[in-house]
Amino acid sequence: MTDIRNIVVLTGAGISAESGIDTFRDAGGLWEQHRVEDVATPEGFARDPDLVQRFYDARREAVQKVKPNAAHEALARLDAEWEGDLLIVTQNVDDLHERAGAKRVLHMHGELLSALCSACEARHSWSDTLFDQPACPGCGEQALRPDVVWFGEMPYEMERIYTALRRADLFVSIGTSGAVYPAAGFVRDAREYGARTLELNLERGEGSYWFDESRQGLASHLVPDWVANLLAG
Ligand code: OAD
Repeated sequence: MTDIRNIVVLTGAGISAESGIDTFRDAGGLWEQHRVEDVATPEGFARDPDLVQRFYDARREAVQKVKPNAAHEALARLDAEWEGDLLIVTQNVDDLHERAGAKRVLHMHGELLSALCSACEARHSWSDTLFDQPACPGCGEQALRPDVVWFGEMPYEMERIYTALRRADLFVSIGTSGAVYPAAGFVRDAREYGARTLELNLERGEGSYWFDESRQGLASHLVPDWVANLLAG
């Protein structure tokens, strides 16, 4: 492990599951409770903005009541102590990595605690509701929407992510089903660029095949163990 300097970590809903946030595709997950087309597409928002705003308002409220778990804390420790490059790319829209203390975090699917103005395209930190159509603090238009990347929209900061993948010696995927692209393709990109690849997930999925190594278990166990070993050299 001593030849590892540059690391990219990809996280998904599974890392926040033990904090009490529903995943998307597990039994009882969000996509069993709601139709993706209704609440996670620009077309769904155009059709019924009230429904979509209420859905994200409820999730924004809920996320402020939960706490980071041992997996978020272990990644924050890695962030504080790792001297090489590290980029934690999260598909999650919660802020649990940051609340655990991690700094090198990139939210490729946006953030619940942010609002995006459809009129001026500014992004504003936001902890309140959007259902009641507050004015954009920048331009004054009542055009704020959840700052969440919906299906059919471009994830944030793809160039920065691919630059980090190209330089990575190690790519680690944590708590994601590998069902949604482009994130699901990062393991293949990282391999092609020469990185070692490791999956930490509750179960083996379709994408596990692409990893050099796949470990199964709870993120709150697997991630602290992996970080402790890595930092021990
Ligand atoms: P999924 O719900 O698709 O997958 C969650 C994964 O976490 C599954 O493979 C579970 O087995 C695993 N898991 C559950 N609990 C776990 C635990 N305690 N420890 C470790 N692993 C656990 O969620 P994502 O892969 O994050 O996109 O979904 C990707 C994207 O699909 C989301 O960002 C969202 C969604 O549609 C958008 O909204 C654009």
